[in-house]
Amino acid sequence: MKSLLVYVSKTGNTEKVAQRFARGLGGEIDVVNLDLSPEGVLKEFQPKFTLDAGPYDLFCLASWVMVMKVHPFLAAYIRECRNLEGKKVAVCLTGGASLSRGHAYEDLLHILEEKKVNLIGFSYTTTLLGLTLTRKKLEKAEQFGREIKSLVEQGG
Ligand SMILES: Cc1cc2nc3c(=O)[nH]c(=O)nc-3n(C[C@H](O)[C@H](O)[C@H](O)COP(=O)(O)O)c2cc1C
Repeated sequence: MKSLLVYVSKTGNTEKVAQRFARGLGGEIDVVNLDLSPEGVLKEFQPKFTLDAGPYDLFCLASWVMVMKVHPFLAAYIRECRNLEGKKVAVCLTGGASLSRGHAYEDLLHILEEKKVNLIGFSYTTTLLGLTLTRKKLEKAEQFGREIKSLVEQGG
């Protein structure tokens, strides 16, 4: 199983969640930290950067919630990414509060709708600016990764 994991993280919460998710997922994973400058240029060389999801069995996305929406960098990335139609997609969002979960999920569905992906899993982790990103929540992220792995292996 070959996966692409693209994430956006400002203060590290989403990065931690994405890393634990990746650990649970296992297999071959190309990871891209979408750390962009205001001009949209990657701040660090990301050798695995791609806008083509075609070669991957699974496309994983992780982002922090900003004003109740998926971070605009990730939203822009999804819009530009090619070969997403029918692609299995799993998403991890982090947000300060559970209140934003529903709004962010709606926004995600709206962004993904036009790309006709097959959303097979969604997780939302509350962080309260990192204060409540507990070991238990990270274990849950890893478990989510394991669940996604078995779904993909079962052809789901
Ligand atoms: C400008 C800004 C806007 C935010 N808006 C929301 C929001 O609408 N809802 C929410 O739950 N959290 C919001 N947060 C909190 C972050 O989503 C949360 O701390 C997240 O875990 C940060 O992830 P990171 O450490 O990967 O950057 C906001 C944070 C910032 C800095």
